[in-house]
Amino acid sequence: MKKIITNGIIVTASDTYEADICMENGVITQIGMNLSTDGAEVINADGCYLFPGGIDPHTHLDMPFGGTVTKDDFETGTIAAAFGGTTTVIDFCLTSKGKTLQSAIDTWHAKSEGKAVIDYSFHLQIVETNEEVLNELPKIMEKEGITSFKVFMAYKNVFQADDETLFRTLIAGKELGALVMVHAENGDVIDYLVKKALSEGNTEPIYHALTRPPEAEGEATGRAGTLTALADSQLYVVHVSCAEAARKIAEARSNGVDIWGETCPQYLVLDQTYLEKTGFEGAKYVWSPPLREKWNQEVLWNALKSGTLQTIGSDQCSFDFNGQKTLGKDDFSLIPNGGPIIEDRVSILFSEGVAKGRITLNQFVDLSSTRAAKLFGLYPKKGTIAVGADADIVIFDPSVERVISANTHHMAVDYNAFEGMKVTGEPVSVLSRGEFVIRNKQFVGRVGAGKYLKRVRYGKEKNVKEVDSIVL
Ligand code: URP
Ligand code: ZN
Ligand code: ZN
Repeated sequence: MKKIITNGIIVTASDTYEADICMENGVITQIGMNLSTDGAEVINADGCYLFPGGIDPHTHLDMPFGGTVTKDDFETGTIAAAFGGTTTVIDFCLTSKGKTLQSAIDTWHAKSEGKAVIDYSFHLQIVETNEEVLNELPKIMEKEGITSFKVFMAYKNVFQADDETLFRTLIAGKELGALVMVHAENGDVIDYLVKKALSEGNTEPIYHALTRPPEAEGEATGRAGTLTALADSQLYVVHVSCAEAARKIAEARSNGVDIWGETCPQYLVLDQTYLEKTGFEGAKYVWSPPLREKWNQEVLWNALKSGTLQTIGSDQCSFDFNGQKTLGKDDFSLIPNGGPIIEDRVSILFSEGVAKGRITLNQFVDLSSTRAAKLFGLYPKKGTIAVGADADIVIFDPSVERVISANTHHMAVDYNAFEGMKVTGEPVSVLSRGEFVIRNKQFVGRVGAGKYLKRVRYGKEKNVKEVDSIVL
């Protein structure tokens, strides 16, 4: 059925204006003043902003990690994402040495099909670059529409790949038109520091941060940038947490390297002291890279504002405090790394960014949605409000004041990393391809309604890079 949203203020990455939005069969069909409402369901968005649905380019749903499996899966995770104003997630498909890429992707399809309530796609982890893998990559890109590869430079003996693998992945990315993503921390140095700390009897959660110093992130970021330049390829650095890494990205960008950076809400509002909380509570904030000294937050905000960093991911990787984080009660290195962030990503960026005057409304939309759509080959079907685009729309009330809490969140975990934080603004209703998923703060979506999205190649097809014009 035709729907028309009236009285809202449309905000895109470039414009802010009053107009009605008409949608039919899942896409936006008209935008204009006083559109005819004949035969349409009318949705009054008085006092609200209309944002393109958020795109979270960094999630780990139903992922085995740290001797356990993330608590949120594609059902609970995408419901929580929708409550938070996100209508697309791109999850990381993990691969294993010696197994085909296709088998890993099949596993991820099995985890997500029939469960997601919003649209989703996959990035593909690369752990080795032998002939089999390099032969399979173009076929996977064609068949699955996966156009981004992920390499971990940390988590020694688990996910970590060596520099040759990273370099060969960058070359493949260049040849095939895929964006290469890195978790940039020096895993070898961290492994040494972790063993040393434990041998000295230092087992508390704060040692997670102390054994993963910002220099280890800065060094790996710089190295990845240099290898990208050498391969004449393109790179996206996930979860940038500190000044050292942001500066390496700025430096590479100023040298013309095709490098992009993502940060996460947790690095913008929480700091290293959270890991010192008593009663093992610090374990709730153990993820990698770790939280940093507070002064880094201003550097990251400025990097977002100035364009050194371009996106906000959640790095959703949730574990219960009781029973999962507690696996590391006597040894910080056994605490599963990751946090529950997916639901609060958009709200924190709005409240701490826009409401506090650090970024503009249009920058907020770019950071939370548009830029990820462009970089990862979803634009302009996703990431904007335009005729022909999918009707993924967030009706956002900027006047609401509320407090984030595990008592009211929709993630499956037993704590919220932002517990007690006051935020301004809230997604009231969320539509995915023209259908309500959240209506007046209630879930009205359908489990399994989310579609798997095939994406276009980096730099090879229209509008994938930094192009602001809309061509449908
Ligand atoms: O601690 C984290 N970030 N867990 C998820 C895996 C990763 O490094 O992104
Ligand atoms: Zn990571
Ligand atoms: Zn991650």
